[in-house]
Formats: sequence, C-alpha cells, structure tokens
Amino acid sequence: MRCFVEPSPAGGYFVRIRGEAAPVSRHDTEEEAEAAAAAYERGLAREDTVEHVLLADGSEVLIRAVRPDDKPLFVTGFSDLSPESVRTRFLASRPALNLQELAFFTEIDHVDHEAIGALDASSRKAVGVARYVRDSEHPHIAEAALTVADAWQGRGLGDKLLRRLRDRATAGGIRRFTALLFADNVAMLKLFGRLGEVTITSRDGSVIEIAVEL
Ligand SMILES: CC(C)(COP(=O)(O)OP(=O)(O)OC[C@H]1O[C@@H](n2cnc3c(N)ncnc32)[C@H](O)[C@@H]1OP(=O)(O)O)[C@@H](O)C(=O)NCCC(=O)NCCS
Repeated sequence: MRCFVEPSPAGGYFVRIRGEAAPVSRHDTEEEAEAAAAAYERGLAREDTVEHVLLADGSEVLIRAVRPDDKPLFVTGFSDLSPESVRTRFLASRPALNLQELAFFTEIDHVDHEAIGALDASSRKAVGVARYVRDSEHPHIAEAALTVADAWQGRGLGDKLLRRLRDRATAGGIRRFTALLFADNVAMLKLFGRLGEVTITSRDGSVIEIAVEL
C-alpha cells in the first residue's frame, strides 16, 4: 500500500492511498503530511506485538491492538466492505469514513477505548476489527462493535476478535458490553451469546440494543 501527499482543495495537504477516493489524513504543511505518510508506511511494516492466529480453515491472521498509523488500513478495509456489511455495522449506508472518524477509530487510549484488529498474514490487508468504548458515566459498561471483511466472514475470525476484546475489557474493569444491532443479525447475537447472558434492553424498529454480562 503506497501513500502519497497532495494539496487539499480547502488548504493544507492530504495523505492519500493510490486507488482510494477517501483521504487518510489532512495536515497544515507539506512537511507534516510527508512525515505522516512515512509513519504510515513504517507502521504497516511493523511486526512487533503481533499475535499469529490460525483459523479453522488453515488461514492465518495477525491480531494486534489498533494504532494511529493504521489509518490507511481503515480506509482500504472500509472501501472493501460490501454495502450490506457497512449497513449492518453502522445501521445505515455510508460512502466512506471521514477524517474525524478515522482519527476516532485509530487514536485510542487502550483503556477507555480499545480496538483489536486482524490482518491477513499473506496480503497484510485489514480483515477485521473489534472495538469497545467505555461509557463515561458507567465505567463498568462499554459499547462493543465488530466488523469482519466479507471474504473472511463465517470463518471464526469474529469469534477470535470478540473474545480478545472481552479479555481486554474485563482486565480493565468492564463487566457489561452493550451493542446496537439489527434484530436479525443472528451471527452477531450468537457471538455475543458466547460471552455471557444477552438481554434486549430496547428496541427501535429493526434495531435493538442489547446488554451482555461478561
Ligand atoms: C457479524 C460478524 C462480525 C460476524 O463475524 P464472523 O467472523 O463472520 O463470525 P464467526 O465466523 O466467528 O461466527 C459467526 C457464527 O454465526 C453463525 N452464523 C452466521 N450467519 C448466521 C445466520 N444467518 N444464521 C445463523 N447463524 C449464523 C456462524 O455459523 C458462526 O457460528 P458457528 O461458529 O457456530 O459456526 C460479521 O458477519 C460482520 O462483520 N458483519 C457485518 C458487520 C456487523 O454486522 N457487525 C456487527 C455490528 S455490532
């Protein structure tokens, strides 16, 4: 994945990835943008703190905590998702992640906001991410969400990511996950059900809110 720098029409400079319409980040000066692009390239090559995990079908993924320099992986991972997967994850259609969302998803403190990502060990493409965001008023509760790339769904990756997220959460004092999802998202309900008792706490049309006791 190659990053490049380009002036932004609204001023400043974008870091972009070849073939992707959505920019990765915006910077005030060209030097800052070049430095960010170099950091992304270095980050993509980094091999530390990675867990090698084999799935039941023999394919291998690399699992690790998400870092700020993962923004290019989020841009390409999102644009590879099918409209249906985007809709079931975000409960609405959307074209791309904007710069604020990319920052929110990657610049995390790993205490109140954790995200664990998976890369295809051969292509190094992003294939899944599990995330929780702690409720600021009820610190023992966190909202959780999970996304697996379409070609990797149904291969056990969601289960592996969610269990790791649960372990991180409970180590940090979180005792309940909440989630908003479509009531017919059977795969996600099944995965949450493996962590603990699931209760539907509210319903709004086809969307339910659930609580999972960890
Ligand atoms: C939901 C999602 C994360 C699941 O990840 P995954 O890697 O496909 O899940 P896994 O392969 O680990 O397990 C899914 C389980 O649900 C089952 N399942 C999948 N679809 C199902 C369906 N329609 N009916 C019944 N069971 C189903 C699978 O068989 C599997 O169970 P098993 O382990 O007993 O075989 C993934 O499909 C996804 O990213 N969907 C789009 C985004 C989304 O919906 N996110 C959730 C919002 S919080």
